[in-house]
Amino acid sequence: KTKIILDTDPGIDDVFAILFAEAHPDIELKGITTIYGNVTIENATRNALYLKQKFQLQADIVTGASKPIVRPPVGPTVVVHGEGGFGDVNVPAEVEGQADPRPAYQYIIDAVKAEPGEITLVAIGPLTNLALALQADPSIVDLVNKVVIMGGAFGENGHRGNVTPFAEANVHDDPHAADMVLTASWPVVVIGLDVTEQSFFTRDYLDQLRDNAGDVGQFIWDVSRFYLRFYSEKVGLDACHVHDPSAIAYVINPELFTLREGPIRVVVDGVAEGMTIQKIDDRVYPHDEWMNQSPQQVAVTVKDAELLELYRHSIINY
Ligand code: BDR
Ligand code: CA
Repeated sequence: KTKIILDTDPGIDDVFAILFAEAHPDIELKGITTIYGNVTIENATRNALYLKQKFQLQADIVTGASKPIVRPPVGPTVVVHGEGGFGDVNVPAEVEGQADPRPAYQYIIDAVKAEPGEITLVAIGPLTNLALALQADPSIVDLVNKVVIMGGAFGENGHRGNVTPFAEANVHDDPHAADMVLTASWPVVVIGLDVTEQSFFTRDYLDQLRDNAGDVGQFIWDVSRFYLRFYSEKVGLDACHVHDPSAIAYVINPELFTLREGPIRVVVDGVAEGMTIQKIDDRVYPHDEWMNQSPQQVAVTVKDAELLELYRHSIINY
């Protein structure tokens, strides 16, 4: 089993990912650390506690950062995920259960140190918690198993981002944090937009989950209604992309993806704020800030049909 801490801003596709991680027998979902992003930090934690209660998750729920490290907050993406984060599904103002008393970055440090080499950090929201953990205790870079991130966009020039022409939301929400996380010397695998946009949950696919996967399938279907409306009205698609579940799919079966190696940087301000760049040539430049950086892995392709089958199978056998 791979032990994971899932850092998340739930969020509709975050729900898809959390339930996927919980469903699959090869993953032990130890902790859910929350982060602002799709919603405020208060809603993120409340949503996570609600899922824990509704689906009897064993995972600790831990409250993360409320804002980026340097840049002013961008604010919740209400048009994509709805006011509360779960689209048309209203989460009660008061939910049962308590978050862990520690801040998320401390929980991450403690968990990684308690089981050296065992914990995989999976981040599917802005990267502030991971950056704060690195700042507070840089020794964790040698103690994690791996860091798997849904974020950034590594396609060709042209349409690359989803919140600006060049930036993906999770990275754009805190580019300084993303730059710290992606340049640190721990093993990172990044699944960017250009790859998560290769897989689609169609209406038929979601209907099948509703019909065959009990309460979990019904809940995925319920939260997906708002998301599908956003995709049809704003993106012109009669389906939704499979962003956050792609990071979980990587943890379960890395062979679904091909990867490319090279150091990564993030543009932290200006017109291309939040843009992710990977250097993939060997040339040595006169001003080479990349030279001493750890190479990281960026996903290039995905076997989308197999990913969808893995997801369906996992959720149906929840
Ligand atoms: C990412 O941003 C959020 O809206 C999604 O939950 C996903 O993590 C996609 O850019
Ligand atoms: Ca997310």
